[in-house]
Amino acid sequence: MIVCICRRISDKTIAQCARSGMGFDDIQLELGVATQCGQCEGCARALWSECSPQQSVAHISRDVTTQQAMSA
Ligand code: FES
Repeated sequence: MIVCICRRISDKTIAQCARSGMGFDDIQLELGVATQCGQCEGCARALWSECSPQQSVAHISRDVTTQQAMSA
């Protein structure tokens, strides 16, 4: 599915970039996502956030913090 119509960028391309560790700013610079009309930015950011490995690490860290808080 095309996410960014202006630049013809698909959800697969954004997901692949996110999984490789690229930040959203990097994807914008590299591919031009959300740099013209901006209509795709919300969807593109949500997709990036879902697929970014950084989000998984943050989620694990949050669980550890919660466990530490519960044991204290
Ligand atoms: S649809 Fe992505 S910038 Fe226009």
